Amino acid sequence: PTNHLRHVESMKTLLSGAGNISILNAVILGEALASEENDLVFPSEKFSVQAHVPSPEKYLEMYRRSIEDPAGFWADIASEFYWKQKWSEQIYYENLDIRKGNIKIEWFKDGITNISYNCLDRHVEAGNGDKIAIYWEGNEPGFDGTLTYTQLLHQVCQLANYLKDIGVRKGDAVVVYLPMLMELPITMLACARIGAVHSVVFAGFSAESLAQRIMDCKPNVVITCNAVKRGSKTIYLKDIVDASLKESSQNGVFVDVCLTYENQSAMKREDTKWLDRRDIWWQDVVPQYPTTCAVEWVDAEDPLFLLYTSGSTGKPKGVLHTTGGYMVYTATTFNYAFDYKPSDVYWCTADCGWITGHSYVTYGPMLNGATVLVYEGAPNYPDPGRCWDIVDKYKVSIFYTAPTLVRALMRDGDQYVTRYSRKSLRVLGSVGEPINPSAWRWFFNLVGDSRCPISDTWWQTETGGFMITPLPGAWPQKPGSTTFPFFGVQPVIVDEKGVELEGECSGYLCVKSSWPGAFRTLYGDHERYETAYFKPFPGYYFSGDGCSRDKNGYHWLTGRVDDVINVSGHRIGTAEVESALVLHPQCAEAAVVGVEHEVKGQGIYAFVTLVDGVPYSEELRKSLIAIVRNQIGAFAAPDKIHWAPGLPKTRSGKIMRRILRKIASSQLDEFGDTSTLADPNVVDQLIDLADS
Ligand code: WTA
Repeated sequence: PTNHLRHVESMKTLLSGAGNISILNAVILGEALASEENDLVFPSEKFSVQAHVPSPEKYLEMYRRSIEDPAGFWADIASEFYWKQKWSEQIYYENLDIRKGNIKIEWFKDGITNISYNCLDRHVEAGNGDKIAIYWEGNEPGFDGTLTYTQLLHQVCQLANYLKDIGVRKGDAVVVYLPMLMELPITMLACARIGAVHSVVFAGFSAESLAQRIMDCKPNVVITCNAVKRGSKTIYLKDIVDASLKESSQNGVFVDVCLTYENQSAMKREDTKWLDRRDIWWQDVVPQYPTTCAVEWVDAEDPLFLLYTSGSTGKPKGVLHTTGGYMVYTATTFNYAFDYKPSDVYWCTADCGWITGHSYVTYGPMLNGATVLVYEGAPNYPDPGRCWDIVDKYKVSIFYTAPTLVRALMRDGDQYVTRYSRKSLRVLGSVGEPINPSAWRWFFNLVGDSRCPISDTWWQTETGGFMITPLPGAWPQKPGSTTFPFFGVQPVIVDEKGVELEGECSGYLCVKSSWPGAFRTLYGDHERYETAYFKPFPGYYFSGDGCSRDKNGYHWLTGRVDDVINVSGHRIGTAEVESALVLHPQCAEAAVVGVEHEVKGQGIYAFVTLVDGVPYSEELRKSLIAIVRNQIGAFAAPDKIHWAPGLPKTRSGKIMRRILRKIASSQLDEFGDTSTLADPNVVDQLIDLADS
């Protein structure tokens, strides 16, 4: 204990800020914690001894260095990658304080590298070319494929050569609308190889949303496939792309080439609608190109990709990530948070259309030379045992998923889990929304046989990689807590005035100083970047999340505090759904709030005011839901339409969402102060219509 305390004392002087001190108290006094808490879950001795970070002390030592000497800490890690030219002496530059001028973050400036080279060539040249890079499992059981690192490199080079041949150059945007085929990571890596900026759009977005993104980043090339099967449904992706290209060309944005992969298991090429001057079959051109392709060396701060995400206003934000810092950060977080070992088989159930698929299907794992499983289909097809069938088939050892899937499978029944062995599993992971303790325990006890630590990773599209995450093996877990910050990350919890809170507290989650994986701007709108993330609490990056810290320093995420809702781990802006609803000719006004949902985490609850004289009807309800599907995508369809003769507004016309949230969750006696409402009768009318 004296040793521990000395450690705490020295750390207290080293690190200022309450967050850090409570972290220390918690991890160092882990044993003391155990006796007073019964909700601690300890990693087994067997797991800890083999882990990269086997103890709180080791974490502390590394964490301390990462805060005290970020340059040294990150330089050591970055040196393990291939750099054509080393970064300049000053490893990073940051201004995160809006009061001191424009926000600017740079890491490894003047370093010249290529992330595709580091994901592929580096492993092949080290003699690991025969290692499996991708196990691909199709929607239909029995339909599968594999690629070694050498084969993956060859395919990436062929596509890169084709793209170069049709004129795609460094810095050009390429929009990708593909399902979870091997061609999706291949495309990302091919773009990166030639310095093109990929913008992957989740293949569940509607034509309208796709068009919006195409019009924003103006690519010359869109890459897609004709169709895909998910579960028993066929989705005709090419039709959606056709509609979006029509729309964008009507708005003056012309795409020259639509490269289309023929996904034969879902649709034949004869059945695919075709525009000869624009559409090209992938299989007709790409395989003819050479399997080697010189790398385009890029600056660490050259853009790697754009990924659109939802904010509190209607227009999606183009989050821009650059090359060097993102590379180092995703690789490092993957390695530590999953305690990755070269013998692992890793499966992340996220789609590459979201940030999780960027950082933890493609880049993070492949930078580590990992074997990655890519699954095309639905997790409950043909039955809710499919995930564990796949785990057994490929001997998956790291399984990373979202709480919504855990809850859905939990509801389907234990028998689907227990009929499979799952003994290959070593580490489990969770992401996207807070995981409720009961789902956590089911995941831990049943799926992982009480043997596998769970890395509940908190992070965001904007952060590029994990920010607050367990390091399995290092310290005890509390079900539902994301535990402690990753190396180099300084989370702070502030009150509404931006004052850092100490000790046990609850408030807004911010981050002090930059980390290599941070996004650098919003594409074409640096001002919005500064306004949305750096102005709310000057001096910090503001995450948009609420968070509390318990007396032991563990972090507990409490959900978004802005007008963003999280439906099955998908980020949706309430304003986006509202803009879609008001496009309906019979909708006069709409207000959308999130409401607790047993499986999805949050559901979408829409209050709709109709144009004068229009009667309520089931048909109208359906057409309102349909317009949201068409404008955004099926995943954003409202769960409930609540007819609203009027909306509760202040005298200045601002909608009081607080009241709507209470009505949506049937907390009818907790409205709080309603005296500022322009018309208090509105509330009673809404309550009356709750079940209609
Ligand atoms: C939420 C997904 C609690 C959070 C990687 C955040 C989480 C938003 C967790 C980002 C977690 C993500 N616990 N909440 N482990 N992980 N979130 O950009 O509200 O799609 O702000 O990135 O998801 O969603 P995004």
